[in-house]
Amino acid sequence: MVPTAHEFDVVIIGGGPAGYAAALRGGLAGLSIAIVEKDRVGGTCLHRGCIPAKELLETATVYRTVAGASEFGVSVDAPKLDFSRSQARKQKVVDGLWKGLQGLLKKRKVTMFAGVGTLGPDHVVSVDDGTKLHGNHVILASGSVPRTIPGFEVDGKVVMTSDEILELEDLPSSAAVIGGGAIGCEFASMLSDLGTEVTILEALPKILPGCDADVTDVVLRSFKKRHIDVRSGVVVMGHTKAPDGASTTVHFGDGEEIDVEAVVVSVGRSPLSGNLGLAATAVEIDERGFVIVDDQMRTAEPGVFAAGDLVATPALAHVGFAEGVLIIDQILDGADAVVPVDYGKVPWCIYCHPEVAFVGLSEEAAKEAGYAVVAKTDPFRGNGRALIVGEPEGMVKVICEKTASGGAGRILGVHMVGAWVTEQLGQAYLAVNWEATPEEVAPYIQPHPTLSETFGETVLALTGRGLHVG
Ligand code: NAI
Repeated sequence: MVPTAHEFDVVIIGGGPAGYAAALRGGLAGLSIAIVEKDRVGGTCLHRGCIPAKELLETATVYRTVAGASEFGVSVDAPKLDFSRSQARKQKVVDGLWKGLQGLLKKRKVTMFAGVGTLGPDHVVSVDDGTKLHGNHVILASGSVPRTIPGFEVDGKVVMTSDEILELEDLPSSAAVIGGGAIGCEFASMLSDLGTEVTILEALPKILPGCDADVTDVVLRSFKKRHIDVRSGVVVMGHTKAPDGASTTVHFGDGEEIDVEAVVVSVGRSPLSGNLGLAATAVEIDERGFVIVDDQMRTAEPGVFAAGDLVATPALAHVGFAEGVLIIDQILDGADAVVPVDYGKVPWCIYCHPEVAFVGLSEEAAKEAGYAVVAKTDPFRGNGRALIVGEPEGMVKVICEKTASGGAGRILGVHMVGAWVTEQLGQAYLAVNWEATPEEVAPYIQPHPTLSETFGETVLALTGRGLHVG
C-alpha cells in the first residue's frame, strides 16, 4: 500500500445526496468517513436543484394564489413581485438546510476535505491541495452538470441552464425553454406564473417523456390555458443575439424563429466523471461518461463503489440517497445482505403546476412490456377537497395487470397529476412496491375530505365497487 497521510474506512468523493447519505449512515454505524467536496456539501440538490427550484416554484404558487384570491371573496391588490426578496427567501431556506447538514456530518464525525478529489491505484484519493487519503473503501459520487447543446454557449445572461436561472436577479419578460423534461416544465411553469412569456421547444413529439400520456395531456391543457406555448417535435438550430446583447432570436423547426430575452437550456444532465482521475484504476466509464456499476453499485475496481448522478440510474436525489445507503450497508454486512434498488419502482415527482407524481409503469410502458392491462382514471374535479382548494384539474390513474378472468390484478403503476400529488404518492408507492392488488388496497379508509380520496376511489373502482367512479 502507498503510504498515506490519512486513513479512513470509507473515502467519498462528492458530498451531494449520494455521498452525504453514505457518510451519515456510515458515521452512525461507527465507520470513519471522509468526504472530499470541491464546492459545498448538499450538492446539486441542495444548492442548484431540488431545493432552490422548488422554493421558487412555491413563490409562483403564492403569486398565483394571491392573484386568484377574489374568487374566494378576498380582495387584494394585484400581486407585485419583488424577485430579490424571493431570491433572499430561497437562499435562507438553502442556507438553513446547508447549516443543518454540516452540523449533522460533524456530529457523525465525518471529516471534510475541501478540493477536487481524484482516485489513483490502491484506493488512494488525492485532493488537489496535495493531501492524500486512503480508504478501505472508496465511493465515487461526484454527480452531474447540466448538459448543453452546440450553438448555445451559456453566458448566464441570455443563455442559461438551471444553474444560472436559479441565481437570476430579475426575471426575463420572455423565455424559450429548450427541452420539455422535468426541469424544463418546472422552470416554464414557474416563469409563466411570475409573468414571463414562455415557449417550450421540445425535440420529441410530446413533453414530459416517460410520463403517462393522460398525465401529459392534463399538463399540456393547463400550460395552454396559462399561455405557455408548447412546440414539440421541433429541432432547435441555433440563435442570433441582438446587437445590444439583451435578447436573442432562436431558430427552430422549419425556418421558424422566436425573439426572447432568455433561453433556458434544459436538455438533461451529464455525469461529472472527467475529473475523477481513474486512469490507473479498473473503474470503467461508458460512452456517455457514466461510471459503470453492477446492481450493488460496485465498479470494476474491488472496494470502489459509485452512486448518484454519476451512474446511469434515474437522476433523482432520493435514488442517490438509496444508493449511498445501500453501499454502506454492504460494507457493513456484506453484499448478500442488501437488496438492489428496484429502479422501475422508484417515486418520481415533478413540481410544475399542476404537479406530476408517479411510480411504476405508465399504461403505454406496461403494454410495451407485454402486459395485458386494466387501467382506471378518476379526475380530481369530483373530489370535494380539490374543489375547496380551487384545484379541480388533474386525475389519478392506476394501471393493473389483467387477471385471467379479466379483472384488475397486481398494480403495475400509479400516475397522478394535480394539486399536491407529490405529497399523495406515498400510498401508491407502497402499493406498487408491495405488488398489491386493488382488492388488497381498496378496503383501507381514506380520510375525508382529502385529495387522497381520489386514489382510494380509483382502486375501489378497479374492484368493481367504486362509489363515484364506474
Ligand atoms: P430530461 O432528460 O428529463 O428532459 C430533457 C428533455 O429535453 C427531453 O424531453 C428531451 O427530448 C429534450 N431535448 C433534448 N435535446 C433537445 C434539443 N436539442 N432540443 C429540444 N429538446 C431537446 O432532462 P431534464 O429535464 O434536464 O432533467 C435532468 C435530470 O434531472 C432528469 O433525469 C430528471 O429526471 C432529473 N430531475 C428531476 C426532477 C424532478 O423529479 N422533479 C426535477 C429536475 C430534474
